[in-house]
Amino acid sequence: MPLHILSHPLAAHIITHLRDQTTKPATFRTLAYQISLLLAIEATSEIETEEKQIDTPLERITGRVLNHQPLVVVPILRAGLGMLQPFTDLFPDVSVGYIGLERDHETAKARSYYCKLPPLAGRHVFAVDPMLATGGSAAQALTVLKENGAVHPALVCIVSSPEGVAEVERQHPGTVIHTAAHDRALNAKKYILPGLGDFGDRLYGT
Ligand code: PRP
Ligand code: URA
Repeated sequence: MPLHILSHPLAAHIITHLRDQTTKPATFRTLAYQISLLLAIEATSEIETEEKQIDTPLERITGRVLNHQPLVVVPILRAGLGMLQPFTDLFPDVSVGYIGLERDHETAKARSYYCKLPPLAGRHVFAVDPMLATGGSAAQALTVLKENGAVHPALVCIVSSPEGVAEVERQHPGTVIHTAAHDRALNAKKYILPGLGDFGDRLYGT
């Protein structure tokens, strides 16, 4: 199962501050941006480049630039919005889709309430959602993306659980998952341990 865990010391530093319950929403948002920037760089490390001739002030060289294969990033609302900006900063031409899913607090099952997607066929598609807990939301989002033409959409999250990774692998075998931290387990209420609590609430101060 292709699970990629960030190993940069900066990732560990940022995650520790995200986990800290005393971290306030403004700082939490900055940290979410920073960790998502590292993840966006890692998740796109295999996109294609092509040759381009340019003149430096000193001589002509053949460099490499991104080719025009379009990228699509799809934040899973609402917490996924906290991971969007690094993708649009790094790739100004990226297309953005949205999938709205909300976990029921009692059953931990995700309910779909919104979906707006650009064309996905033939594009690199990245679903971004900070928390992969039971895996129900991510698996549902991947199903929607595939129904709309995505082939091998990747999943980018900040904290994953063993249960969530296993569920995504069960429903969507071979999905590439990028995570900044792979945690121990879920508690009885299906929150990730040690985790960082409710990401959306901490991001938006709700
Ligand atoms: C969180 C998170 C994921 C989901 C993960 O969203 O952002 O989408 O829970 O849980 P799962 O793996 O068990 O499905 P939530 O439903 O709390 O909604 P929000 O983003 O609007 O806060
Ligand atoms: N959603 C969150 O925001 N946090 C968890 O630990 C699980 C689901």
